[in-house]
Amino acid sequence: MPESGIESMAAARSLCPADALVDGGAGVRFTVELNTRQVGAFAVRFDGAVHGYLNQCAHVPMELDWQEGQFFESSGLYLICATHGAMYEPDSGLCVGGPCRGASLAKLRIEERDGNVFWVPEAPYHPADTADNA
Ligand code: FES
Repeated sequence: MPESGIESMAAARSLCPADALVDGGAGVRFTVELNTRQVGAFAVRFDGAVHGYLNQCAHVPMELDWQEGQFFESSGLYLICATHGAMYEPDSGLCVGGPCRGASLAKLRIEERDGNVFWVPEAPYHPADTADNA
């Protein structure tokens, strides 16, 4: 049975105040657990909406941000992998230029409510703090 909205929001993790993410500006980094591994993730705002992805290029699993939290290229229209320049659509995660064109970032469920931004964990991603360090 699918989780209800209320149940899934109960598992939601607060990431930051909504106004901490400005359109095309710096993102917020956080950590998720995937197959018992801790993996970096991030959320950014684009065209008014907040989007979240694993912080792993679709080409080689390296973090995208060349300076911590800087995910957009200079125009603020695309996310960019600093290592080899892959460009991604911020709202879909689709790579539209670079070595992994046509591949996509792994999207996470992000919700904004009551002035805050939340990550809503959905399989295969789990909160990183419910393992050994809970
Ligand atoms: S590691 Fe991201 S474009 Fe190569």
